[in-house]
Amino acid sequence: MLETAGENEPIATAVVTSAREVPTMSKSARKRLLKQQLLEARKTERKAAEKERRRKDLERRRREWDDKLTGASEEERARLLESRKEMRRERMEKRTDDRGKRAERLRRSAEVGQKVVIDLEFSGLMSSGEIQSLAHQILYCYAANRKCESPAHLWLTGCKGEIGTQLQRISGYDKWIIEKEEKSYIEQFQDQKEKLLYLTADAENTLEELDDNKIYIIGGLVDRNRWKGITMKKANEQGIQSARLPIGDYVKLASSQVLTVNQVVEILLKFLETRDWKNAFFDVIPLRKRGAVDTECGDTVNVAKIERECNEASEAEITEDRGEEDEFDDVFLVTKKQRSELTTDDTDLTETADDTNVADDNKT
Ligand SMILES: C[S@@+](CC[C@H](N)C(=O)[O-])C[C@H]1O[C@@H](n2cnc3c(N)ncnc32)[C@H](O)[C@@H]1O
Repeated sequence: MLETAGENEPIATAVVTSAREVPTMSKSARKRLLKQQLLEARKTERKAAEKERRRKDLERRRREWDDKLTGASEEERARLLESRKEMRRERMEKRTDDRGKRAERLRRSAEVGQKVVIDLEFSGLMSSGEIQSLAHQILYCYAANRKCESPAHLWLTGCKGEIGTQLQRISGYDKWIIEKEEKSYIEQFQDQKEKLLYLTADAENTLEELDDNKIYIIGGLVDRNRWKGITMKKANEQGIQSARLPIGDYVKLASSQVLTVNQVVEILLKFLETRDWKNAFFDVIPLRKRGAVDTECGDTVNVAKIERECNEASEAEITEDRGEEDEFDDVFLVTKKQRSELTTDDTDLTETADDTNVADDNKT
């Protein structure tokens, strides 16, 4: 799509032209394709603009720092360098401390946390791209859980095959504090079958509360609901309970009530923290899906959030370069290029995080 845009041609214009030029499609399919391409093009444009803004900001801060040093006396210069060193040291200490606390909370969640399972037995029904998207969504689930004061006890069951391979590709995955299980949840929890509850948008029952005795299962699927009803069918066949989130009681959605895996996990986490569904839905479901005007803001909510975390991760890379251990922080797919950008002399001024490979995070 991007390749079709001429040098000075806005991407969106190129997209409109290319989608209009597909003669074999029905009118509604063309409209759908156009809408999807426009959204993607806008996202790309926004990402490029954001990257440029970060680059300029970094440049400006570097310049300011250099000017400050150049204009300073020998004594003042030494003082500035020393205070920068001190700031770095304090920041690193705080980060190490925070990491330790987070790891401890995650370990404790294995004893006291709400059990939430992501069912990874659907690899055969997804394309490679969709499986890669799913791996990214799982990354977001882990990132969200790790930030919670009272994290859930997260499980990945049926964790093998292509999804297992994709997860392994995420840097830092090996150190995640999460249950990774090749067995299916039905085998894993065979003696607790009555506690299993499949969350599915197609269920008749609505979830009202979260019961810490229950084990909530989420379908690890990115299928744009091509496999509509598949998790409902699975739960029925296995004779386990099912329920849907009470979205309709609190929010009016512009499109279907089928959410992404990470959105569902984040909603559960928010609800565990606040016991307030409305708050959880408003906090997690993007504005665009909530039927609000399709503003820049609506589409960027999640990307911006992840990018902020990537900044955190970028800083962690610096820490890592200094030989510190961490169970997670290099997880945000930091590229080689970023790594080298981050290890320049001005790393402590660096706030940049490039492409985060998150283009697919809102695919259902
Ligand atoms: C992208 S959806 C998969 C849709 C799939 N066609 C299906 O039949 O479940 C990912 C998973 O998130 C959970 N989910 C999504 N929306 C939900 C809702 N409104 N209520 C409960 N669970 C939901 C379900 O576990 C679902 O399998």
